Amino acid sequence: MSLSGLLKKRFSIRAFLDKPVPEEILKRIFTDARLSPSNCNVQPWQIYVVSGAKKNELKDKLVQAVMSGQAPNPDFNWKVSYKGVHRDRQFGSANALYSSMGIERSDKQARMVAMLQNWTFFNAPHALFFTMEKYLDIMGAVDMGIYAQTLTLLMTEHGISSCLQGALGQFPDPVRDFLNIPEERGILFGMSFGYADEKAVVNATRTEREPLENSVVFL
Ligand SMILES: Cc1cc2nc3c(=O)[nH]c(=O)nc-3n(C[C@H](O)[C@H](O)[C@H](O)COP(=O)(O)O)c2cc1C
Repeated sequence: MSLSGLLKKRFSIRAFLDKPVPEEILKRIFTDARLSPSNCNVQPWQIYVVSGAKKNELKDKLVQAVMSGQAPNPDFNWKVSYKGVHRDRQFGSANALYSSMGIERSDKQARMVAMLQNWTFFNAPHALFFTMEKYLDIMGAVDMGIYAQTLTLLMTEHGISSCLQGALGQFPDPVRDFLNIPEERGILFGMSFGYADEKAVVNATRTEREPLENSVVFL
C-alpha cells in the first residue's frame, strides 16, 4: 500500500483482539523502524515491548499506582494546559472518543473509567514504552516523535493497530522499577498495539483535521 494509503488507514485503536502479533513480524517492524531519521543520527530511542504475563503484571502495577490517587510525575515536561484553538481541538478529540462510547460529557465517572483503560493498555496483547536519556530533552523528543510515527505506519502496513499514549508516561515509577530502566533514562510516552477488534464501538472514533491553509503557508 502507498504511504498516503497507509496514512488514511491509520486511526487510534482502543480495543483489541486477544491475538498476539507473531514474533517474526514484530522483529521485522522494529528492524525497519530503525531507519527513522534523527538529529545527527543519534537514534535516541530505547524501546521496551511488553507482552503476555509480563504485560499483565505491569498493567496491575500501573492501575494500582493510578488508583492510589498519587499525582502524575512524568519524567519530561508533559503537563501543558492547552489554550485557544488547541484547547478546542483537544475537546473535539475527547468528544469524538466519548460520544463513540456513548458517554455524556457531564458523566465524569464514566469518563474516568474510560480514561483508566489507558493503563490497562486497552487490553491489547502488547504495550511499549518510548524511553530516551533525560538530558536529550526537546531534541530527543523530536526524534522520538518521528520514530513513533514510523512505527505506527509500519504496523499499519502489517495490519496491526495501535494507540500512542501520553498517559503511559504519566506514572513512570512502577514502569521504571518493573523494566529496570536506569534513572538517567526517561519514559516519554507509550503505545498499546495488536489486532483491532473491529466490532468494538470505541474503534469507530474518528477525529478531524484542519484545512490545509490552517497548517501550511506557501510563499
Ligand atoms: C503523543 C501522543 C499521545 C497520545 N496520548 C493518548 C493517550 O494517552 N490516550 C489516548 O487514548 N490517546 C492518545 N493519543 C491519541 C490521540 O488522541 C489521537 O492520535 C488523535 O486524537 C487523532 O486521532 P487518530 O489517531 O485516530 O487520527 C495520543 C497521540 C499522540 C500522538
